[in-house]
Formats: sequence, C-alpha cells, structure tokens
Amino acid sequence: MGQFPLTLSRFITQSQATHPGGTGEFSSLLAQIGLVGKLIAQDLRRAGLISILGTTGEINVQGEPVKKLDEIANEIFLKVFRHGGLVCALASEEMEKPVLLPENWPQAKYLLLFDPLDGSSNTDCNMPLGAIFSVVMAPRKDRMPTEDDLVRKGTEQVAAGYLLYGSSTMLVYTVGQGAHGFTLEPEIGEYLLSHEQLHIPARGKVYGVNEGNYHKWATGTKKYVDYLKFQDKATGRPYSGRYSGCLVADVHRILLGGGLYLYPGEMDRPDGKLRLLYEANPLAWVVEQAGGRASTGTMRILDVEAKNLHQRVPLIIGSANDVRDAEKFIQGICEP
Ligand code: AHG
Ligand code: MN
Ligand code: MN
Repeated sequence: MGQFPLTLSRFITQSQATHPGGTGEFSSLLAQIGLVGKLIAQDLRRAGLISILGTTGEINVQGEPVKKLDEIANEIFLKVFRHGGLVCALASEEMEKPVLLPENWPQAKYLLLFDPLDGSSNTDCNMPLGAIFSVVMAPRKDRMPTEDDLVRKGTEQVAAGYLLYGSSTMLVYTVGQGAHGFTLEPEIGEYLLSHEQLHIPARGKVYGVNEGNYHKWATGTKKYVDYLKFQDKATGRPYSGRYSGCLVADVHRILLGGGLYLYPGEMDRPDGKLRLLYEANPLAWVVEQAGGRASTGTMRILDVEAKNLHQRVPLIIGSANDVRDAEKFIQGICEP
C-alpha cells in the first residue's frame, strides 16, 4: 500500500520542526483557515437549495452590490477567528473598518486580512469561487493594534494564501518556504497534501483578462494583449484566453500551467479594480514563492507602499517571462 498523503496539520508541524522558533501557532492559524474553507464549502455545495443566492440589497465599501454569500463568508471568517486567541484584529474587503478583538490581546500575535469570497459574480451560476488571506504580525505588546497596523507592505506578510472552491476545495498557502497546495478529502474532512512545492513554468500559453475593458486600457496594455494573439510558433502564440471571473481560480490555473492574469489600470480607474491588501499582496507572494512574478506593470506588487485599507492596484501576475513581457509593453520598451 502506498503512503497516506500528509494532512495539512502534519505537514505544518513537520515544516516547523526545521524551524526551532516555530511555536505551533501557525499550525493553528492555518487549521482555522482550513475550517473556514470547510464551512464555506458546505454552504456553497447546497447554495441553490437554501436561499443563499442573489444579493442582500446593500452596497459595500468597494461600491459593489453585496451578495448574500459575501456576507455569509465574511461572518464565517469572523466567527472562526474571534475564538482561538491567535488574531487581535481583522480587516475584510467587505467591511469598511477593521474588527479589533481586545479579548484576544495581548497574547494574539497576528493580524488577518481577507477577501471572504472572491469571484462573487459567479455565485448564482455555480462557477468557481475563492477566498484570499494575508497574515501580518501584530504590533508590540504594549498597545492594541489600530487600523494603521493593518495597512502594511506585501513584504511584511508572514503567511498568505487562498481557498479555491472548484470541483474540489483546495487550500494553497505560503509562509515563505515555497507554496504548497492541499485538497480537501470530503469523506474524512481533512486537507491532504496534493501539490508540494508548486512551481510555475517560466512561460505559459494562457492569458486571463476581462477584454470587455479593452477600450479603457492604456496603449501599452492594448498592444500587449494584441501581441498575445498574433501567431508566432517560436513563442507559442497565439495564447489561449481563459477568464472565469474568479481571480483565485484564474491564478490557480496559471500557477499550475503557466501564463498570466491581468487586471490592468483603466482610463477612469488607473489603479484597476483589485485590492492591494486582500487580493494582490497575498497572491503575489504565493506566485513569487512558486517562482513566478507579480507586478503593477511598473513595479513589484510586494514593494507597493500601502496607504489605506481598501487601496486598489493594477495586477499582472503569473509566469516570470510572461509578466516581464507585459511590463515591457506597458512601459513602452517593446513594440510588436
Ligand atoms: P470580488 O468578488 O472579491 O469582488 O472579486 C472579483 C474580482 C476577481 O475575482 C475577478 O477576477 C474580477 O474581480 C472580475 O472582475 P470583472 O467582472 O470586472 O472582470
Ligand atoms: Mn476578490
Ligand atoms: Mn470578495
């Protein structure tokens, strides 16, 4: 009989053993993310049967209509992390202000930022969804965290990753020692190691972008996307277009097979749509840990100075050589 795959908790414990400073808290933190994933997946599996599709009628801080499932997923994150004493403040794409947890302070070392449900436009048509999380260290022990403590540069993350609710539920994360993927085994309710040390190919043949926005893009972005469609056997063009409406699912495809995802700046929205703290930073770190690249078009995502909680940023992420090509076009260094 072959060896039984490693469970998430065992994998983390083993990785921690190589780091004498490891306290076991990361293990608990990731186990809680895993629990969030199980709870949300449970709702998603029967979403069409239990009146949780559609919108709540509210508009969130991002100016977008709130789906019932956005709210449910957000509540699940809050419920799980209020307990356990690991996190003393949380910030979510769905909440204007962070939630501070004085009851967990001062023992809780971490702050959690999350997009509770990514790809919300997919809820009502049974398409993939995700969640994205980012963890930073809480400030010194002599004071409770404030909103400013959550507004941190991507390089300050200590753990980051995503949950993908596709045909399987997956948890992919990094703590800076590579990126690893776990698949939820539904019969036993455990996440099992399915993708150890993810490695993204240096170049792919797939691009993901909402081309409906083409006429709002800068010239360099238009030229790059046009270039991807010209035939050239040497560089594998034309690339295939793949866009699901769920960033997590699109980035996951690219992480496994190569290529790139773009949500560029637009004429009336120069910073694009995606949020730096809840979406771009955590995915950028995962992709970099797998050998890929994540850029605004002019600089590394992880080096972007964070100024506020809901800041947006253009995102170009995926295979290192593909992202470099896109940067050259955007910066006007390269012409087709
Ligand atoms: P969210 O559902 O968390 O607001 O994120 C949606 C994001 C992302 O998942 C997706 O790639 C992109 O927005 C889709 O936006 P468009 O509909 O503008 O293409
Ligand atoms: Mn999102
Ligand atoms: Mn969301």
